[in-house]
Amino acid sequence: MKRKIIIAIDGFSSTGKSTMAKTLARTIGYAYIDTGAMYRTVTLYALDHGMFDGESVDEAALEAALPNIVITLKAGAEGRTETYLNGENVEQEIRSMRVSDKVSIVAALGFVRRDMVRQQQAMGKRKGIVMDGRDIGTVVFPKAELKIFVTASAEVRAQRRFDELRGKGDTSVTFEEVLHNVTERDRIDTTREESPLRQAEDAIVLDNSFMTIPEQDQWLLEQYEKAAKSAKPAKKAK
Ligand code: DC
Repeated sequence: MKRKIIIAIDGFSSTGKSTMAKTLARTIGYAYIDTGAMYRTVTLYALDHGMFDGESVDEAALEAALPNIVITLKAGAEGRTETYLNGENVEQEIRSMRVSDKVSIVAALGFVRRDMVRQQQAMGKRKGIVMDGRDIGTVVFPKAELKIFVTASAEVRAQRRFDELRGKGDTSVTFEEVLHNVTERDRIDTTREESPLRQAEDAIVLDNSFMTIPEQDQWLLEQYEKAAKSAKPAKKAK
Protein backbone atom coordinates (compact mmCIF):
# COMPACT_ATOMS: atom_id res chain seq x y z
CA MET A 1 0.00 0.00 0.00
CA LYS A 2 1.18 3.50 -0.79
CA ARG A 3 1.61 5.85 2.11
CA LYS A 4 1.68 9.62 2.10
CA ILE A 5 5.22 10.83 2.23
CA ILE A 6 7.27 14.01 2.23
CA ILE A 7 9.26 14.70 -0.93
CA ALA A 8 12.14 17.14 -0.53
CA ILE A 9 13.61 18.60 -3.70
CA ASP A 10 16.73 20.68 -3.22
CA GLY A 11 19.33 22.02 -5.57
CA PHE A 12 20.88 24.97 -7.33
CA SER A 13 18.82 27.82 -8.77
CA SER A 14 17.29 27.52 -12.26
CA THR A 15 17.67 23.77 -12.46
CA GLY A 16 13.98 23.49 -13.31
CA LYS A 17 13.36 21.83 -9.98
CA SER A 18 10.21 23.87 -9.36
CA THR A 19 8.73 22.74 -12.67
CA MET A 20 9.43 19.08 -11.97
CA ALA A 21 8.26 19.36 -8.37
CA LYS A 22 5.03 21.00 -9.50
CA THR A 23 4.38 18.38 -12.17
CA LEU A 24 4.96 15.55 -9.73
CA ALA A 25 2.67 17.11 -7.13
CA ARG A 26 -0.10 17.47 -9.70
CA THR A 27 0.35 13.92 -10.99
CA ILE A 28 0.19 12.30 -7.56
CA GLY A 29 -2.27 14.71 -5.95
CA TYR A 30 0.13 16.21 -3.42
CA ALA A 31 0.44 19.85 -2.36
CA TYR A 32 3.38 21.71 -3.87
CA ILE A 33 5.32 24.23 -1.80
CA ASP A 34 7.87 26.56 -3.36
CA THR A 35 9.99 27.74 -0.44
CA GLY A 36 12.08 30.04 -2.68
CA ALA A 37 8.89 32.05 -3.20
CA MET A 38 8.74 32.63 0.56
CA TYR A 39 12.28 34.05 0.72
CA ARG A 40 11.52 36.12 -2.38
CA THR A 41 8.40 37.55 -0.74
CA VAL A 42 10.30 38.64 2.37
CA THR A 43 12.86 40.27 0.05
CA LEU A 44 10.13 42.13 -1.85
CA TYR A 45 8.75 43.43 1.43
CA ALA A 46 12.20 44.63 2.52
CA LEU A 47 12.76 46.36 -0.84
CA ASP A 48 9.36 48.04 -0.82
CA HIS A 49 9.85 49.27 2.73
CA GLY A 50 13.21 50.90 2.02
CA MET A 51 15.20 48.44 4.12
CA PHE A 52 17.99 48.01 1.59
CA ASP A 53 21.00 50.24 1.33
CA GLY A 54 22.92 48.87 -1.62
CA GLU A 55 23.83 45.30 -0.70
CA SER A 56 23.04 45.62 2.98
CA VAL A 57 19.69 45.23 4.62
CA ASP A 58 18.49 46.80 7.85
CA GLU A 59 18.32 43.60 9.88
CA ALA A 60 16.74 45.13 12.97
CA ALA A 61 13.93 46.68 10.92
CA LEU A 62 13.34 43.46 9.01
CA GLU A 63 13.29 41.32 12.14
CA ALA A 64 10.78 43.69 13.76
CA ALA A 65 8.64 43.59 10.59
CA LEU A 66 8.57 39.78 10.25
CA PRO A 67 5.28 39.31 12.12
CA ASN A 68 3.69 41.74 9.62
CA ILE A 69 4.81 39.71 6.61
CA VAL A 70 2.04 37.21 6.01
CA ILE A 71 2.84 34.85 3.15
CA THR A 72 0.17 32.64 1.61
CA LEU A 73 0.78 30.09 -1.12
CA LYS A 74 -2.32 29.22 -3.13
CA ALA A 75 -2.96 26.90 -6.03
CA GLY A 76 -3.91 28.98 -9.07
CA ALA A 77 -5.40 28.02 -12.44
CA GLU A 78 -3.78 25.28 -14.59
CA GLY A 79 -1.57 23.99 -11.80
CA ARG A 80 0.06 27.36 -11.29
CA THR A 81 0.92 28.52 -7.81
CA GLU A 82 0.30 32.03 -6.66
CA THR A 83 2.12 33.77 -3.86
CA TYR A 84 0.39 36.40 -1.74
CA LEU A 85 1.93 38.99 0.54
CA ASN A 86 -0.57 40.31 3.06
CA GLY A 87 -3.40 39.37 0.72
CA GLU A 88 -1.86 40.86 -2.43
CA ASN A 89 -0.81 38.64 -5.32
CA VAL A 90 2.95 39.16 -5.78
CA GLU A 91 3.69 36.12 -7.96
CA GLN A 92 5.01 38.22 -10.87
CA GLU A 93 6.95 40.70 -8.81
CA ILE A 94 8.86 38.17 -6.76
CA ARG A 95 10.33 36.73 -10.01
CA SER A 96 11.75 40.09 -11.17
CA MET A 97 15.50 40.73 -11.33
CA ARG A 98 15.08 43.41 -8.64
CA VAL A 99 14.12 40.66 -6.20
CA SER A 100 16.43 37.97 -7.64
CA ASP A 101 19.41 40.27 -7.11
CA LYS A 102 18.75 40.66 -3.39
CA VAL A 103 17.09 37.44 -2.29
CA SER A 104 20.31 35.62 -1.35
CA ILE A 105 21.10 38.38 1.14
CA VAL A 106 17.75 37.94 2.88
CA ALA A 107 17.92 34.12 2.69
CA ALA A 108 21.25 34.22 4.55
CA LEU A 109 19.69 35.80 7.66
CA GLY A 110 19.23 33.36 10.53
CA PHE A 111 16.09 34.99 11.93
CA VAL A 112 14.42 34.91 8.51
CA ARG A 113 15.34 31.25 8.00
CA ARG A 114 14.07 30.19 11.41
CA ASP A 115 10.73 31.83 10.74
CA MET A 116 10.38 30.32 7.24
CA VAL A 117 11.45 26.84 8.42
CA ARG A 118 8.88 26.93 11.22
CA GLN A 119 6.12 27.73 8.73
CA GLN A 120 7.34 25.06 6.28
CA GLN A 121 7.42 22.37 8.95
CA ALA A 122 3.83 23.23 9.88
CA MET A 123 2.81 22.83 6.22
CA GLY A 124 4.24 19.30 6.15
CA LYS A 125 2.59 18.02 9.30
CA ARG A 126 0.12 15.84 7.45
CA LYS A 127 2.63 14.75 4.79
CA GLY A 128 1.51 14.48 1.17
CA ILE A 129 3.70 17.39 0.07
CA VAL A 130 6.38 18.11 -2.49
CA MET A 131 8.55 20.93 -1.18
CA ASP A 132 11.33 22.54 -3.16
CA GLY A 133 14.17 24.69 -1.89
CA ARG A 134 17.76 24.51 -0.67
CA ASP A 135 17.59 23.08 2.83
CA ILE A 136 14.46 20.92 2.74
CA GLY A 137 16.24 17.56 2.98
CA THR A 138 18.87 18.82 5.40
CA VAL A 139 17.05 21.17 7.79
CA VAL A 140 13.29 21.42 7.21
CA PHE A 141 12.54 17.71 6.83
CA PRO A 142 15.71 15.72 7.56
CA LYS A 143 13.52 12.61 7.79
CA ALA A 144 11.76 13.09 4.45
CA GLU A 145 11.06 9.73 2.81
CA LEU A 146 12.36 10.94 -0.55
CA LYS A 147 15.13 13.49 -1.08
CA ILE A 148 16.27 14.66 -4.47
CA PHE A 149 19.21 16.97 -5.14
CA VAL A 150 19.02 18.60 -8.57
CA THR A 151 21.97 20.08 -10.37
CA ALA A 152 22.99 21.26 -13.88
CA SER A 153 25.84 23.35 -15.28
CA ALA A 154 25.71 27.12 -14.61
CA GLU A 155 25.55 27.89 -18.36
CA VAL A 156 22.61 25.57 -18.92
CA ARG A 157 20.82 27.08 -15.94
CA ALA A 158 21.50 30.67 -17.04
CA GLN A 159 20.17 29.86 -20.50
CA ARG A 160 16.97 28.47 -18.99
CA ARG A 161 16.45 31.54 -16.82
CA PHE A 162 17.28 33.84 -19.76
CA ASP A 163 14.75 32.07 -22.02
CA GLU A 164 12.16 32.31 -19.26
CA LEU A 165 12.66 36.08 -18.88
CA ARG A 166 12.57 36.61 -22.66
CA GLY A 167 9.45 34.44 -22.82
CA LYS A 168 7.80 36.89 -20.41
CA GLY A 169 8.86 39.76 -22.67
CA ASP A 170 11.63 40.96 -20.34
CA THR A 171 14.45 42.25 -22.59
CA SER A 172 16.16 44.35 -19.94
CA VAL A 173 18.90 41.85 -19.13
CA THR A 174 21.64 40.18 -21.15
CA PHE A 175 22.64 36.53 -20.98
CA GLU A 176 25.91 37.54 -19.26
CA GLU A 177 23.99 39.36 -16.54
CA VAL A 178 21.78 36.34 -15.95
CA LEU A 179 24.83 34.04 -15.84
CA HIS A 180 26.45 36.37 -13.33
CA ASN A 181 23.30 36.34 -11.19
CA VAL A 182 23.20 32.51 -11.27
CA THR A 183 26.86 32.03 -10.30
CA GLU A 184 26.71 34.75 -7.67
CA ARG A 185 23.64 33.19 -6.08
CA ASP A 186 25.35 29.77 -6.11
CA ARG A 187 28.31 31.29 -4.31
CA ILE A 188 26.22 33.00 -1.64
CA ASP A 189 23.86 30.02 -1.20
CA THR A 190 26.68 27.48 -0.76
CA THR A 191 28.98 29.55 1.43
CA ARG A 192 26.53 31.21 3.83
CA GLU A 193 26.79 30.29 7.49
CA GLU A 194 23.09 29.61 8.02
CA SER A 195 21.96 26.33 6.39
CA PRO A 196 24.18 26.50 3.30
CA LEU A 197 22.99 24.68 0.22
CA ARG A 198 24.39 21.18 0.41
CA GLN A 199 23.31 17.74 -0.58
CA ALA A 200 21.83 15.57 2.17
CA GLU A 201 23.80 12.33 2.54
CA ASP A 202 20.76 10.25 1.68
CA ALA A 203 19.63 12.39 -1.27
CA ILE A 204 19.47 11.03 -4.80
CA VAL A 205 21.36 13.30 -7.20
CA LEU A 206 19.87 14.29 -10.54
CA ASP A 207 22.01 16.17 -13.07
CA ASN A 208 19.48 17.28 -15.65
CA SER A 209 21.81 19.31 -17.93
CA PHE A 210 20.99 17.07 -20.85
CA MET A 211 17.58 15.70 -19.93
CA THR A 212 14.28 16.68 -21.48
CA ILE A 213 11.42 17.71 -19.24
CA PRO A 214 9.38 14.52 -19.94
CA GLU A 215 12.47 12.42 -19.15
CA GLN A 216 13.00 14.03 -15.79
CA ASP A 217 9.30 13.93 -14.93
CA GLN A 218 9.29 10.19 -15.60
CA TRP A 219 12.47 9.68 -13.57
CA LEU A 220 11.01 11.58 -10.62
CA LEU A 221 7.74 9.68 -10.75
CA GLU A 222 9.66 6.40 -10.56
CA GLN A 223 11.60 7.63 -7.52
CA TYR A 224 8.31 8.54 -5.87
CA GLU A 225 6.75 5.12 -6.63
CA LYS A 226 9.71 3.36 -5.02
CA ALA A 227 9.83 5.62 -1.97
CA ALA A 228 6.07 5.52 -1.34
CA LYS A 229 6.02 1.72 -1.54
CA SER A 230 8.77 1.28 1.01
CA ALA A 231 7.64 4.08 3.36
CA LYS A 232 6.96 3.03 6.91
CA PRO A 233 3.44 3.53 8.24
CA ALA A 234 2.95 6.75 10.13
CA LYS A 235 2.61 6.39 13.91
CA LYS A 236 -1.03 6.41 14.95
CA ALA A 237 -2.10 9.45 16.92
CA LYS A 238 -3.34 8.55 20.38
O1 DC B 1 14.54 28.76 -5.80
P1 DC B 1 14.60 30.27 -5.92
O2 DC B 1 15.57 30.74 -6.98
O3 DC B 1 13.27 30.92 -6.07
O4 DC B 1 15.21 30.75 -4.52
C1 DC B 1 15.39 32.11 -4.24
C2 DC B 1 16.50 32.30 -3.21
O5 DC B 1 16.10 31.81 -1.93
C3 DC B 1 17.84 31.64 -3.53
O6 DC B 1 18.87 32.60 -3.43
C4 DC B 1 18.02 30.59 -2.48
C5 DC B 1 17.07 30.96 -1.37
N1 DC B 1 16.40 29.80 -0.79
C6 DC B 1 16.90 29.32 0.38
O7 DC B 1 17.90 29.81 0.88
N2 DC B 1 16.28 28.27 1.00
C7 DC B 1 15.21 27.71 0.45
N3 DC B 1 14.63 26.70 1.07
C8 DC B 1 14.69 28.19 -0.78
C9 DC B 1 15.32 29.25 -1.39
